[in-house]
Amino acid sequence: MKFFVDTAEVDAIAELNELGMVDGVTTNPSLIMKSGRDILEVTKEITDMVSGPVSAEVVATQADQMIEEGRKLAKIADNIAIKVPLTWDGLKACNQLTNDGFMVNVTLCFSANQALLAAKAGATFISPFIGRLDDINLDGMQLIADIRQIYDNYGYETQILAASIRTVNHAFESACIGADVMTAPPDVIKKMALHPLTDKGLESFLKDWEKTGQKIL
Ligand code: G3P
Repeated sequence: MKFFVDTAEVDAIAELNELGMVDGVTTNPSLIMKSGRDILEVTKEITDMVSGPVSAEVVATQADQMIEEGRKLAKIADNIAIKVPLTWDGLKACNQLTNDGFMVNVTLCFSANQALLAAKAGATFISPFIGRLDDINLDGMQLIADIRQIYDNYGYETQILAASIRTVNHAFESACIGADVMTAPPDVIKKMALHPLTDKGLESFLKDWEKTGQKIL
């Protein structure tokens, strides 16, 4: 499973990148706002750090302007994935930008039918938002499973990018279902390392080790 980091905070990306945990990065207008940085500058900085796809989102709502914005964002670096929303105009932009040879990430996907349209429009990635469905008492994980089944039924190559991941359970279940990629905030990725039995076991090993009076170094 590929891990993308869902943030525009360069320090957090750098920390995970040193461990080889970063296969790509996703940003959106809210994450750019949170970073307080200029979109072109911060995106360039991220593309210099990470060799995998870095998603940068358009903000226009009409297809022709989305295409123009997408082409500008794509000039930042070769590893830009242009992010467009899952609207009819977004699908038009997806199709054109894909035909231009760019990677396209279709975002704000909340139904399997939307994901089917994105695949037909040639999307490189489809981003179903798990957490936001859970927020309104719908089953975000079922959406990932439904899209997996549909894409497998017909051999669509669009990669399922499980997004709006809020918990380690979202990460685990996405991996079980077979999402190609998950994008998660840095703290969720770090929390995946935690287990109380690991802490307990380590504590007891260290206590016993102290009793031996030995040293390795
Ligand atoms: O990748 C999409 C993500 O940034 C949305 O997450 O937590 O705002 O629903 P969230």
